[in-house]
Amino acid sequence: MAAAAALNAPSRILDEPDVEAPIRAFAIATMFWGIVGFLMGVLIASELAFPLLNLDLEWTTFGRLRPVHTSAVIFAFGGNALIGTSLYVVQRTCRARLFGGEEMGWFLFWGYQFFIVTAALGYVLGVTQGKEYAEPEWYSDLWLTVVWVTYLIGYGGTILKRREPHIYVANWFYLAFIITIAMLHIVNNLALPVGDGIGKSYGVASGVQDAMIQWWYGHNAVGFFLTAGFLGMMYYFIPKQADRPVYSYRLSIVHFWSLIFLYIWAGPHHLHYTALPDWAQTLGMVFSIMLWMPSWGGMINGLMTLSGAWDKLRTDPGLRFSVTAVGFYGMSTFEGPVMSIRAVNSLSHYTDWTIGHVHSGAMGWVGFITFGALYYLFPVLWKKQRLYSDRLASWHFWVATLGIVLYITAMWVSGIMQGLMWRAYDELGFLQYAFVETVAAMHPYYVIRMLGGMLYLSGALMMAYNLYMTVTAVEDLPTAQPVPAGALPVPAE
Ligand code: HEM
Ligand code: HEM
Repeated sequence: MAAAAALNAPSRILDEPDVEAPIRAFAIATMFWGIVGFLMGVLIASELAFPLLNLDLEWTTFGRLRPVHTSAVIFAFGGNALIGTSLYVVQRTCRARLFGGEEMGWFLFWGYQFFIVTAALGYVLGVTQGKEYAEPEWYSDLWLTVVWVTYLIGYGGTILKRREPHIYVANWFYLAFIITIAMLHIVNNLALPVGDGIGKSYGVASGVQDAMIQWWYGHNAVGFFLTAGFLGMMYYFIPKQADRPVYSYRLSIVHFWSLIFLYIWAGPHHLHYTALPDWAQTLGMVFSIMLWMPSWGGMINGLMTLSGAWDKLRTDPGLRFSVTAVGFYGMSTFEGPVMSIRAVNSLSHYTDWTIGHVHSGAMGWVGFITFGALYYLFPVLWKKQRLYSDRLASWHFWVATLGIVLYITAMWVSGIMQGLMWRAYDELGFLQYAFVETVAAMHPYYVIRMLGGMLYLSGALMMAYNLYMTVTAVEDLPTAQPVPAGALPVPAE
């Protein structure tokens, strides 16, 4: 009951209106960086299919643009979505104005965009720490630390001054995301600048310790950035869109504690068959397999929230995105534990199978849950009567889904083929295929992946147009009288 009350807390309270302007900016930035990131994805996918497109220029090579893509989609698209929605959700569910007010919101917004731009410029110019997902050099890292600690203060401060006794479960997930990312970011980026030009630094750890710290970071970037934060989004927006309480609040708490306890140990599954001690690899594998349970518990909780409201899928394209996202969450968290088994990993590692797994999680789960939230948020934040076009949103849904299916099936086929070709021997014990033959065999799949990416990108462009028209062409809501706290038993918007 307390949880349902928190979720349904009236939005605008007479004396303390929610901070919304910076959240509107975060929503626009999410859309903008999403398009940039998907475009970079299509570009690097095209470079892999047609290497001529590298243009023989250092700034446009695959090696430099790949981190631009990964950071644009994870940190710029995903990060803006997470910060924006978390600030929205925390104010609504705590019935409290953002701690630090508008100034806090704007500092977070501009501070975070500044980080994105300094990091991306570094990649294109070849300034990088060379650690995957942690490429930015020390100056960007230090700046991000300042922004992130401010974020923690703003978010935590809002929870502390809440008027709702209960802390709704979405806030637990968002808070775990904020705290863990701070910890991972600081430990993995401990580095010493060296005289080799102002931008250059080297990490304090070396060898296998460095690798272990990097993949403790890398895996938990998946677990806490790409998963826990977006689960916060799921636990707020799906009940809102379906207009039903979470299926099992108890399950959501079990989901939370088991997920955060298990994820943090699973990093070594990225280092199978390396110099990392065997026991550590086995530990990573065992914890990854255990992760299956909370992940599927969470998926079931998300899907079952729709019990009695499945018909809404026909009429609400935003909800369709959110629910399909939960399906992809289930799919990628089934595949991940399988891939963490050492014998399976001996085939999948270094191949496109990993890339297929990444994108079912990234495009299907992270992308779709965000699109669902944006379709919900734009009319609410701009106080519009409705979305400009449900039909266009429906088109977005089908075009993007087809794009994902093309992308991930192409990568599964190409990845498994690649792995099998690498390990094929002839009767004399010689390798059956030269490396270049495996590259040639992958070409058709790379073209299919590129087409899948183009579809996904076109869907996002449709969304941008739809949301732009929602803001500019749809009639405003009639100005409602503000309601005092606690006056409404049902969702206020
Ligand atoms: C238009 C859609 C997209 C296209 C065409 C695309 C394309 C690509 C390509 C070609 C790569 C490099 C693969 C390789 O090195 O062999 C890649 C890597 C990656 N992409 Fe995407 N991508 C898209 C969307 C996304 C989204 C939405 C996310 C995350 C939210 C994402 C996250 C990643 C990550 C994490 C990697 C690195 C994977 C690894 O190192 O294993 N991508 N992408
Ligand atoms: C129970 C959950 C999951 C488990 C146990 C898991 C496990 C794995 C394993 C074993 C790998 C391959 C490691 C390697 O061979 O190097 C991998 C790669 C990856 N997974 Fe997952 N996965 C899970 C869920 C997800 C989700 C939901 C996402 C995205 C939203 C995701 C994103 C990634 C990325 C980005 C990589 C590539 C890392 C890299 O090498 O750059 N995973 N995962």
